[in-house]
Amino acid sequence: MHELNQLAKLKKINIPKNWSTTLIVELLALNVSKAELQTLRERTSKTRTESTAVTTIRITNLVKQFGNINAVDGVTLEIREGELFSLLGPNGAGKTTILNILTGILKPTKGTVIIGGYNVSSNLEEIKTKIGVCPQQAAVFNFLSARENIEFFGNLHAIPRKELKERMEHLLEILDLVEVSTRKAKGYSGGMLRKLNLIIALISDPEIAFLDEPTVGMDPRARRATWDFIETLKKRHKTIILTTHYIEEAEALSDRVGILDYGKLIELGTPQELLERYGANNLEEVFLNITGRRIVEGI
Ligand SMILES: Nc1ncnc2c1ncn2[C@@H]1O[C@H](COP(=O)(O)OP(=O)(O)O)[C@@H](O)[C@H]1O
Ligand SMILES: [Mg+2]
Repeated sequence: MHELNQLAKLKKINIPKNWSTTLIVELLALNVSKAELQTLRERTSKTRTESTAVTTIRITNLVKQFGNINAVDGVTLEIREGELFSLLGPNGAGKTTILNILTGILKPTKGTVIIGGYNVSSNLEEIKTKIGVCPQQAAVFNFLSARENIEFFGNLHAIPRKELKERMEHLLEILDLVEVSTRKAKGYSGGMLRKLNLIIALISDPEIAFLDEPTVGMDPRARRATWDFIETLKKRHKTIILTTHYIEEAEALSDRVGILDYGKLIELGTPQELLERYGANNLEEVFLNITGRRIVEGI
């Protein structure tokens, strides 16, 4: 943080005191040279890898077929405790299918998934106490307000009343939903629904959060608030697995990314490693180098 501020000073950029690291990095990214950005990234990825060690999710030879479509085609992957892991890939690559299998919504055709020592196929109940899921499609009651929705889902987790209330106020506040929180969800914008879904996913304060396209449909300000929030989860040593097609965000904030294409994991590593491996300037270029196509096409 100190180094970021120094760099900002050097560049004569005024940074308000209450800005988060994410915001500053984003702003600097627009104003610094490639070499400076590289140094920044190296520094961030160094501090990140030092803090990760224990494997919490182990996916082995995972296959999911829908008829003759191989939605997931032999994925093997380990995700570590406290890691912010992003699955990147074009529309239809299999990201949602993988998350749905990890969270017990879909059964795999083949392969195993172990989460926190438990097998998803046989010990889903134990796993459910550890995880929070934010699905791709908004899953809230339209006829209830944000507060009522949060209370409803919070009660499913049997969270003590006072704790539920405190968490709800905190989450509504940081995701900037307080003002609309008593209005029925029916009239919410796509971005507001995403935020509400995120709060519901995290109301039990789970160890592991699965977030499927958490920032889709949000305006830049809401996206930033969401990423800042995801960063605070990371600081609290939560494991976060997310999918996104906002590649720059994944690149700046993920510890590691897995690139998926046609159900196969075609690359895996820290953003920095992947950029170096392909001599690329960003992850979009990495994907382009491997496949000859762009990730964002068709999303
Ligand atoms: N329930 C389903 N029935 C049939 N095909 C499906 C179903 N769900 C996903 N698919 C197919 O599986 C592939 C992967 O989809 P999905 O996991 O949603 O991709 P992504 O989230 O990366 O966009 C796509 O070809 C999609 O059409
Ligand atoms: Mg999807």
